[in-house]
Amino acid sequence: MISVRNIYKTFGDLQVLKGVSCEIEKGEKVAIIGPSGSGKSTLLRCMNLLEEPTYGEVWLDDKLLTPIDPYIHYDLMAKTKTYHSLVSASSNGGSSSPSDVSNRTKASNDGGDKAASDKSGASGTGQSVNAALNGKKLYEAEVLEKSWQEALKWNTEVSGINLDVIRQIKDYDLLKKNEGSEYKAALKEMERVNRVDVNLARQRVGMVFQHFNLFNNLSVMNNLILAPTTLKLQSEAEATEKASELLNRIGLYDKKDEYPGRLSGGQKQRIAIVRSLVMNPEVILFDEPTSALDPEMVGEVLELIRELAEEGMTMVIVTHEMGFAREVATRVMFMDGGIIQEENTPKEFFANPQNARLQEFLSKIL
Ligand SMILES: Nc1ncnc2c1ncn2[C@@H]1O[C@H](COP(=O)(O)OP(=O)(O)OP(=O)(O)O)[C@@H](O)[C@H]1O
Ligand SMILES: [Mg+2]
Repeated sequence: MISVRNIYKTFGDLQVLKGVSCEIEKGEKVAIIGPSGSGKSTLLRCMNLLEEPTYGEVWLDDKLLTPIDPYIHYDLMAKTKTYHSLVSASSNGGSSSPSDVSNRTKASNDGGDKAASDKSGASGTGQSVNAALNGKKLYEAEVLEKSWQEALKWNTEVSGINLDVIRQIKDYDLLKKNEGSEYKAALKEMERVNRVDVNLARQRVGMVFQHFNLFNNLSVMNNLILAPTTLKLQSEAEATEKASELLNRIGLYDKKDEYPGRLSGGQKQRIAIVRSLVMNPEVILFDEPTSALDPEMVGEVLELIRELAEEGMTMVIVTHEMGFAREVATRVMFMDGGIIQEENTPKEFFANPQNARLQEFLSKIL
């Protein structure tokens, strides 16, 4: 249902996600745990494009939510001029050092005069590629191998494609530097075929935040019907009926005209969950839904989430509630340092952690 493909996310110089891939299947309940700052919220926010990944792709079924990432489409890369010039160069017996790579592709794209001047300054260009790798691109060198392995996963049809050349293009980030309008047109076409308006996709993906994010100046009912009516997905009458039904279900119908400021934390969070349900989502992303609550209110919120899970709702939940993860999740993931370090069934995950950092993490919190 949700497919996250080799995503990276940087904020300025801070690299938060470093090549994360995961598949969330329909009906799964996936718990994500990990230390503070490991990128759990960022991953969740990338799943519904509240953050746009720096590289990589996010798919919702067969709909692409992000721009195309050419580096995970070898078939697309194999159509580029860069690829062809590298392939013909290597078949001509040329060496394939970075400086050659850079010069040759530059020459083939820029034509006449420029090519001549590049030839004379060959080592200069080589140095600039190396400088790029040693400086700003260093993090890529660090994660290159993982990135390559990840990208291989999304390329099932690689027959006839020269993977050495693909790898050179990827390692030296040559596409952006060398490709011209034809390549951009190919990217655009691929996006046109697959990409969907992110707002349409978001309607299918609910999100529940740690701090509820209710509008304090709107009554409970108006909080609940705001999104479906503003987006013209439901009439006011339909939305109100659906919201009333859900409020009855959680025993808070009598609070429909109250303002959020006058509700307890547990009530606010259950209202926030109902708010996402009014939209009939196919999957709900929960970001630490209970960690801002007083202990006595945690139970009522977890109970509601557990009911939704039992009814078959697909969910991804970032949580520190290990008991809950163990009982309700169908799969648990451990994030640390911007990657998924380990994932398993809850039973195996807690009984038999493999990763040293996971073992340490669990020993501290269990
Ligand atoms: N919009 C942003 N701008 C700059 N830095 C950000 C932004 N969002 C997150 N970060 C940084 O990214 C890192 C990971 O943040 P994230 O919120 O994903 O961690 P987390 O695993 O959810 O942590 P916690 O358990 O504390 O919620 C942190 O260092 C954080 O400061
Ligand atoms: Mg977080």
